[in-house]
Amino acid sequence: MRLAHTVHRPACRARNAATHNRRRDPRGIALYKHSMIHATQLCRAGLAGLRDLEKSEIEAVVAYWHRGGADLAHLGVDTARMGTPDDMRRWYRSRLRTGDKAQPQIAYAITLDANLVGYTLLNRYERGIGHSHWHIIARDVRAQGISSALYPHRIKMYFDTSDIQRLTHQTLTRNIGVNRMLDKFVAVAETGFVTNPDGLALPGEFHMRYVTRADVPRLFEIAARSTA
Ligand SMILES: CC(C)(COP(=O)(O)OP(=O)(O)OC[C@H]1O[C@@H](n2cnc3c(N)ncnc32)[C@H](O)[C@@H]1OP(=O)(O)O)[C@@H](O)C(=O)NCCC(=O)NCCS
Repeated sequence: MRLAHTVHRPACRARNAATHNRRRDPRGIALYKHSMIHATQLCRAGLAGLRDLEKSEIEAVVAYWHRGGADLAHLGVDTARMGTPDDMRRWYRSRLRTGDKAQPQIAYAITLDANLVGYTLLNRYERGIGHSHWHIIARDVRAQGISSALYPHRIKMYFDTSDIQRLTHQTLTRNIGVNRMLDKFVAVAETGFVTNPDGLALPGEFHMRYVTRADVPRLFEIAARSTA
């Protein structure tokens, strides 16, 4: 089942199309909103894509966390960090991309055939350190190659839209799906018990992997080899 909060857009876009939505305000002035499509990539599930999360889609993220979408136990979530649904609505409103590369948190939509199927969040910290989170919300499209197909585009998008210098992937060692996806592109650099993990997670055993801007071309080469 696809999410209730879907956004219908033309299914076919060029890769990395820099498309802004054009809106008009009541005075008839054209307004350009930073709702950019960052990438599309065919995969076996269909046309996967990445674009800025839109305000109307925040409710889908809130429902994922607060109405039974996310497997909180499997994800090792510290429910005390989740806040209330209203807290989360407020947080995500401030995470919609503004275009400022120093924005501390940016939320992006993951799409399949132009429908919202998940989201990703980039957290930017001091000294150019970034941490990302990635959730395919629609369970019926998991394990169909979407995250693997989008991985190089995802990393390019983070470095294109934020001034981070290095991205850390911090993944629970027991999360087989996410680790199998990352194993294709980036080796585990260290594994250990993390007492204060990024995001909503409780302390636990995590793999750490690091990616820099300079790695981006290599990630696309790996993807090209795997589909050749
Ligand atoms: C984990 C997750 C990100 C994987 O995304 P995905 O789009 O399903 O990943 P892919 O389809 O690209 O799969 C990558 C590989 O992992 C495998 N895989 C995916 N989910 C799996 C699972 N639950 N168990 C075992 N293998 C799994 C796929 O079969 C594929 O293997 P292959 O390419 O060798 O055949 C996605 O399932 C998800 O968002 N889950 C809930 C939230 C979550 O765990 N986020 C990550 C937090 S760190």
